[in-house]
Amino acid sequence: MQNFLLILVLFVSAALSPALAQRPQPERLAPFVPSPQVVVERMLAAADIKPNETVYDLGCGDGRVVITAARVFKAKGVGVEISKELARQAREQVKALGLTNRVNIIEGDLLQVDLKPADVVTLYLLTSSNERLKPLLEANLRPGARVVSHDFKMRGWKPIKVDTVSATNRTHTIYVYQMPPEKE
Ligand SMILES: C[S@@+](CC[C@H](N)C(=O)[O-])C[C@H]1O[C@@H](n2cnc3c(N)ncnc32)[C@H](O)[C@@H]1O
Repeated sequence: MQNFLLILVLFVSAALSPALAQRPQPERLAPFVPSPQVVVERMLAAADIKPNETVYDLGCGDGRVVITAARVFKAKGVGVEISKELARQAREQVKALGLTNRVNIIEGDLLQVDLKPADVVTLYLLTSSNERLKPLLEANLRPGARVVSHDFKMRGWKPIKVDTVSATNRTHTIYVYQMPPEKE
């Protein structure tokens, strides 16, 4: 009986291990470095956000971009964050500010989220991460949607606007693109 159970356990683990190995692991596409608040406000202003538009911040950290979009621009916000702790902090802040009906924080991988409802996507990742995201943005965003990237360009796309802001002893650059993006 013991032998039978042992064989059964070995068989089940062998059968499951390829499936587990193939499951895509979420990849950390940038470290947590928050955008200074002045940069956040300029990013959202540069995107020309209208009330009730939906802003997605992909890699939302502590939620400051989507919270500002809701508070200052009367938009709806969706923040996507891979870190459990940052997603928890962001949700707590959303709750404390009474914004739960306007801002949703998703704990998960930004490469797996449905981007179709977004009017505006904000990013503060890396050039290589933007490259990974670019085909998903091109395939899913509606014509007229804007993509705003802090400091890192979308290679091959021509921005409709470039803004600079001084904060934290350096100049921050904001790139705004509109879908479908004109190619450089
Ligand atoms: C540079 S921070 C930007 C935070 C915020 N957007 C801002 O501008 O203040 C990048 C964030 O992306 C998150 N991140 C990295 N890879 C991710 C992934 N695959 N899915 C979701 N979030 C991710 C990090 O945990 C980090 O909080």
